[in-house]
Parts: sequence; structure tokens; C-alpha cells
Amino acid sequence: MQKRLAEILQEAKQELGSAETLARAEELRVRFLGKKGELTEILRSMGGLSPEERKSMGQAANSVRGEIERMLEERFTSLKEAAKNLRFKEERIDVTEPGKVKALGSKHPLTVTIEEISRIFQSMGYQIAEGPEIETVFNNFDALNAAPNHPARDMTDTFYITEDVLLRTQTSPVQVRTLQAQKPSIKVISPGRCFRCDTPDATHSPMFHQIEGLLVDEGITMADLKGTLDCFAKEIFGSQTRTKFRPHHFPFTEPSAEMDVSCFKCGGKGCRVCKGSGWIEILGCGMVHPNVLAIGGLDTEKYTGFAFGMGVERIAMLKYGVDDIRLFFENDVRFIEQFR
Ligand code: DAH
Repeated sequence: MQKRLAEILQEAKQELGSAETLARAEELRVRFLGKKGELTEILRSMGGLSPEERKSMGQAANSVRGEIERMLEERFTSLKEAAKNLRFKEERIDVTEPGKVKALGSKHPLTVTIEEISRIFQSMGYQIAEGPEIETVFNNFDALNAAPNHPARDMTDTFYITEDVLLRTQTSPVQVRTLQAQKPSIKVISPGRCFRCDTPDATHSPMFHQIEGLLVDEGITMADLKGTLDCFAKEIFGSQTRTKFRPHHFPFTEPSAEMDVSCFKCGGKGCRVCKGSGWIEILGCGMVHPNVLAIGGLDTEKYTGFAFGMGVERIAMLKYGVDDIRLFFENDVRFIEQFR
């Protein structure tokens, strides 16, 4: 029995020494110390021994048991430690590693321009109005006082969807919608897309943007128009900018004008940007025609107003020195990115 005890101790030492996992160590604990374990078997078989023998065998068995327990304990501790270290190693975070740079998009230059123009007019108390890109012929032409034979109505100039519905050729129909929906005082601008059957070239695109403006109230005069648009020009092109109003014709305004600004590049001396004239045409404007005001059921003796409309691409091209309108719509990031 002594010999068997010594063997068990020896085996336990060997096996535990080579136990690589916690599961294996647990298996060995059951094998040596469990209820059906080898040591328990021996203790159980001591019944047939004399009291002295039982005492000394008991002591011997207990000391082997103690020894195995100690070895198990040691093995468990070191295996747990190793498992923990392995986990730490796997979960290690290198805080010095450089971050992943996410590609950041940028605002489209036309968006930047629309936002800047909108901000200027909003600061003067204008509200933003919106209208659909698919419009009625009535809103796009008739209600805007365009003669039945007006050239812009031509199939070759305008995208018709049906006889009565088209892709708006200008943002001016928003004037009609606003006059029908609001009572004075009216003070709105309306940025949006417009469409015309134009063959794309450096200055033409079948899709482009305009910003419309409309102000209607009692006692509005041309002086209000000039003051407002002069203020706008100084905001967007710089405080040294001068403005000039040239007579023009639009069906929906009377009188009508085009506004030029002194060239922001050469200051008016004449250069490539202003084509030597010192002036750059920026927008169309005028006093709202009584026929248009009547669409909103307004008393045209009491109320007057002014309107204006400008091409966003044209302003963006001038402001940023872009010489081909198509660049705005090709969406080449190398171009778009420059307006961050
Ligand atoms: N709708 C005109 C165009 O597309 C621009 C315009 C001119 C708008 C004068 C206006 C205005 O509101 O008063 O050419």
C-alpha cells in the first residue's frame, strides 16, 4: 500500500507537470482526489488493517493527499496566470498607432454659393420660398405676363412634359406661387434648379440654378430695389463694389433692368474677367408688373414690389474664377474639393 501511495504521488507529479490546460488539470484533480479517485480507493480499502497500521497508513495517505492538493493548487494558479497573460496579449491596444483617416466630403461650390447668397438676404429679413422643378406652363409663362408667342415658350428652348406641364425654365414661377399663398408684406428669395434645352458648352448647361427674389409691400419703389441689390453686391463681392442699372426688358417687370457690378478683379480698369469693360452683369431685376401682382389678387394701386433673379453658376464662376460651367456637374472630386 505504501508503494502504491508512492506511485500515485509520482504519477500525479508527472501528469500535473505536463498538464497544459485548465481542463486537463481539472481532469487530474478528479482522477486523484475525486470521490472515485485513486487515493479515495486506497483510504476505503484500509478497513482490513490493524489499528496501528491504519493510523500510519492514514497519515501517509493524508500527506500524499496534501501533497497532491498543493501541486494541483500550484498548477491551477500558474495555468490561470498564463491564460490571463494570453488574453492581455491578444486584447492589447496600441494607443500609439495612428488613427484611420476617414475621407471627409465637402460642400459643392454651388451649395456654398447658394448658402452665401441666402445668408445675405436672410440677414435682410428675407424668407426662403420653394417651388417645384416640374411646373405648369401657366406659372412659368402665362402668370408671368409672357406673351403667347414669347420665344422662350418654344419647344426648342423649353423641356415640355405635356402641353401644360414643363421643367421650369426660371425660378420666377415661385413669385406666382408666393403671391397666391401669401399676403404682403412679402419678402422671399427662392434658390432652385432650372432647365433649358441648351447644348452644353463652357457657359451653357441644360440644368442650372437661379435665385429669385420678391418683395411686395405698400410704397415700394425702384429706390428700394437699387438699395437692396447694391447692398447685396457689396456683401458678396466686397465693400468697394459699385453697381450700375441698365434698362432691359422682362415680361414680368416694368420697368426692368440688369444690374452690373464693378469688376472685383480689376476694380473697374478693365481686365480679362470683365472683358475690358470694367463691369460685370450679375442679375435681372425690375418692379413687379401689375399683371403679375394681380395674380395674387392684390390691389395694384396700393401695393408695389420689386423682383430679381440671378444665375448661381454665373456668380460662382465669377467668384471662384471657374471658366467652364460643366466643371460644376462633372463632380470630379479634385475640382469639388477645392471649395471646402
Ligand atoms: N427669370 C429671368 C431669367 O430667367 C431672371 C429675372 C429677371 C428674374 C428679372 C426676375 C427679374 O425676378 O425681376 O432670365
